[in-house]
Amino acid sequence: MRRSIAAGWAWAAALFLTVVPHAGSQETRSAGVDDLARGRVHYVASCARCHGVDGAGGEGPPLDRFTLDRAPDDAALVRIMSQGIPGTGMPGSRWLSEGELRQVALFVRSLAPTRPEDAEVLRGDPSRGRTLFEREGCSRCHTVGGVGTARGPDLTTVGARRGVDHLRQSLLDPGAALPRGLSAMPRDFVDYLVVTVVDADGRRVRGARLNEDSYTIQIKDPRGTVRSFYKPDLRVLEKEFDASLMRSYADRLDETEIEDLVAYLASLTGRRRSCWSPG
Ligand code: HEC
Ligand code: HEC
Repeated sequence: MRRSIAAGWAWAAALFLTVVPHAGSQETRSAGVDDLARGRVHYVASCARCHGVDGAGGEGPPLDRFTLDRAPDDAALVRIMSQGIPGTGMPGSRWLSEGELRQVALFVRSLAPTRPEDAEVLRGDPSRGRTLFEREGCSRCHTVGGVGTARGPDLTTVGARRGVDHLRQSLLDPGAALPRGLSAMPRDFVDYLVVTVVDADGRRVRGARLNEDSYTIQIKDPRGTVRSFYKPDLRVLEKEFDASLMRSYADRLDETEIEDLVAYLASLTGRRRSCWSPG
């Protein structure tokens, strides 16, 4: 449960060696098992770290759905895969050829459940999760539909952008759940980079970095006050790439409450209804 997202690579490699390709829809079968198997190989190498080997999602959204919001047809899917989605954590896979992208598309479509009863059912109750969100004061740092304070990222569509494992881990171990994109450093959340400074008088401030240039750094302290420092005067300037300003809720909420919150967060998709449509 507390598996770090970074461990996903090793996990992906292990599954890649053990999982046997499964036949999907009628269309998938007729396109040939070879293409599907190759699609899986490329998917595991290029996509699984963020979307999960089984497509259940993680740092990226789940792909084991009937309808993908941004990829209604295969042409759109191929375009997204090759160019990425600018301004988000979804990178382009320019190293894959057009033919390889089509194979990946075939594999991605095969991840959709073929029967309603196979679709993932969340254990938690979203309406209880919503109550917890209010009770725990999550909106002191997060906005949903414009309500709240944006000290942390906006969560209005977080359920469409992240998988359930990632959401759960964000609550249990926030520092380990920072999206890393394709680099070793967390990248989506550079806005919330945690820094600690100790000035010439020995005063210590820990907060989120707002801005930094060669000579100065601006930090928002836990009370929300913005402080500016002249870097050459600082005794200590430390950046914590694995830290979060958000506390862990592991010791504060029980398992049922965590699952309820996860179900609520997963329901924040910006979509009107569930995307399930029997096809
Ligand atoms: C570094 C992480 C990462 C990698 C690698 C990655 N993705 Fe994504 N992907 C994301 C994120 C994050 C989003 C959500 C972007 C947003 O809307 O904010 C996303 C979104 C998508 C979407 C849109 C989903 C929807 O509901 O419309 C598709 C489709 C997709 N990715 C497919 C792929 C495929 C196929 C690959 C491999 C070729 C891949 N991605 C590789 C992180 C990644
Ligand atoms: C003190 C401010 C603070 C509070 C309170 C807080 N968070 Fe956060 N949260 C953050 C910050 C900052 C991030 C950005 C990533 C990081 O630093 O962990 C974040 C990240 C997240 C993410 C990951 C978002 C993504 O796009 O991957 C989720 C989900 C989340 N918080 C949910 C919650 C919930 C639910 C609560 C209440 C139980 C809560 N947060 C309380 C500051 C806070």
